[in-house]
Amino acid sequence: METKVTSLSLKPILIVFLTLILVINPQIVEANGPNNINLVSLGAKGDGITDSSRAFTSAWNNACGLRNPTIIFVPQGRYMVNSPLIFSGKNCNNKAIKFVIRGTLVAPTDFRVLGNSGTWFSFEDVTGVSISGGVFDGQGAGLWACKRAGKSCPPGATTIRFSNSRNIIINGLTSLNSQLYHIVFDGCTNVKVQGVKVSASAASPNTDGIHVQLSTGVTIMNTKIATGDDCVSIGAGTTNLWIENMACGPGHGISIGSLGKELNEAGVVNVTVKSCSFTGTENGVRIKSWGRPSNGFVRNVLFQHLTMVNAQNPIIIDQNYCPDERGCPGKVSGVRISDVTYQDIHGSSATPIAMKFDCSSEYHCTNINLDGVDLTFRNQEAGSSCINTMGRIFGSIEPKGCF
Ligand SMILES: *[C@@H]1O[C@H](CO)[C@@H](O)[C@H](O)[C@H]1NC(C)=O
Repeated sequence: METKVTSLSLKPILIVFLTLILVINPQIVEANGPNNINLVSLGAKGDGITDSSRAFTSAWNNACGLRNPTIIFVPQGRYMVNSPLIFSGKNCNNKAIKFVIRGTLVAPTDFRVLGNSGTWFSFEDVTGVSISGGVFDGQGAGLWACKRAGKSCPPGATTIRFSNSRNIIINGLTSLNSQLYHIVFDGCTNVKVQGVKVSASAASPNTDGIHVQLSTGVTIMNTKIATGDDCVSIGAGTTNLWIENMACGPGHGISIGSLGKELNEAGVVNVTVKSCSFTGTENGVRIKSWGRPSNGFVRNVLFQHLTMVNAQNPIIIDQNYCPDERGCPGKVSGVRISDVTYQDIHGSSATPIAMKFDCSSEYHCTNINLDGVDLTFRNQEAGSSCINTMGRIFGSIEPKGCF
């Protein structure tokens, strides 16, 4: 009886097992699928010497000529990519191009080669592009040193940028040492970022991990960001942004802004930052605006379940940003900030003031909700500071609220 049951159930078990292998490693299937373009077959060489830029351009053009879902496969190896690349969705028939990258893409060591190009990998007006895996090494250290020395240096190139694009997936990618921003979404709709790692020196200038602006429906899950500027910076016109399970640090934290530099500016609406940690960062969660006229606004923001480990400013709203103290008449920000909830924010502050709200004297921050805050400074009570801030307190709050 026993034996019979076992032999009968062997077939389903085998099917389940094989299915599992395919589910766990879909690249096995995809890499040998019908529309599969191998970068190496187009002249790329993973030898760490040969410039593989043209192979990328050819692969993209070939994929765009196809209508079926297509994989551009990059095998293991180190591929030099010495030219700035533009992947344009104009005249592209293919709405499902997936880069499956096993190798490392390496920018030139000499930062002047890409330094004035704006972006290294630029995707423009594309639909349905995904990138799975891969290490993008921007080799930015030379440029950072140049900037830190106060010399005249090019601005540097963002490593990956998607502009005016939709239905984008970035999965399991690593971005190392970008010259400028690591990953940017500008004018995008429906973006999923998952399992991405960003790594650059704490002393690297302007190396924001992920920057989002004028985009809607961007979701950033399960990421680890260590860099010299904001882990995530959220610019004007960002709506329906979801960030969950991010380990940030070192870095400047997650920042909405700087906003309100322009008189006419799109607002930031519906941002959720959930279950994230901030370790040794300059800020935890920050909202920042210029102290100058603007019709910009921020509303419906939820900061929830956040852990601070020696963050310098765990909770901060700063509406008096004005570097060099120029062009900020009366230092009054026009940006209206409302409906911001801080819920279950706990851990340690590296400075005595763990919670700071410095809002516009003309447009006070309104409906700021504190629901369960527990932040300490050197194992003791931390302080808070509130200017022009109106809100409510729920649950227990440490440091004491000061509305
Ligand atoms: C807010 O954004 C989330 C995605 O981040 C979305 O699921 C939700 O529907 C949005 N809420 C509103 C009111 O638009």
